[in-house]
Parts: sequence; structure tokens; C-alpha cells
Amino acid sequence: MARVKAWHVVAKVDDLEKGDVTPVVVGQRELAIYDGVDGISISYGRCTHGAANLCDGYFDGRRIECPLHQGLFDALTGKALAAPARVALRMIDCKVEDGQVLAWI
Ligand code: FES
Repeated sequence: MARVKAWHVVAKVDDLEKGDVTPVVVGQRELAIYDGVDGISISYGRCTHGAANLCDGYFDGRRIECPLHQGLFDALTGKALAAPARVALRMIDCKVEDGQVLAWI
């Protein structure tokens, strides 16, 4: 039976690292919440190139650099921008309501 997706509160806006990336764990999922210049976005936390947690990487407000091999991703769209990253990040729809970040998972 397929799991039904729904909106889930994953963080409070006040608890996010301002202008940075915040790790959260929801069930079995490790997520990365980006507080970027274009707003909040969420991806799965693991790099698509290898076993690295993107929350340990460098976030410049638009792009997240993987801490392991410096692959680069667009934190809003997930697009891989620089090798060795080639596969886009899996992004998660999100929204902010009443000071809370909700993810469609
Ligand atoms: S593990 Fe992220 S670029 Fe290699």
C-alpha cells in the first residue's frame, strides 16, 4: 500500500540557523533546511554523490557545497552545479505557516 503524503511540521522558523542550513530528522529521514536569500527550501540531507551530510557543507545563501568532495548544488532547485555532483538533490515541497516550517512528506 502506498504511503500517503501530507504536510508535517519539521521545524520552527526561529530555530533555523539564519542564512545557513539546519539539519532535522523526521522519522527515518534526514533533511536539510536551507534559509537562503530566496527563502526556505528543503532537501534530503545526503549528498547524491556519496555518503556525506550536506548540513556539514558550506551554504552561501543560494548554493550548498558538499563537505566531502565539494560538489555544488542549487539549494532552491536541487540542480547539481559542479562536479563531481551530477545528480540533482531530491527537494521537498515546503511552506511556512504561523512561524513553522512544513514539509510535504
Ligand atoms: S559526497 Fe558529495 S560531492 Fe562527493
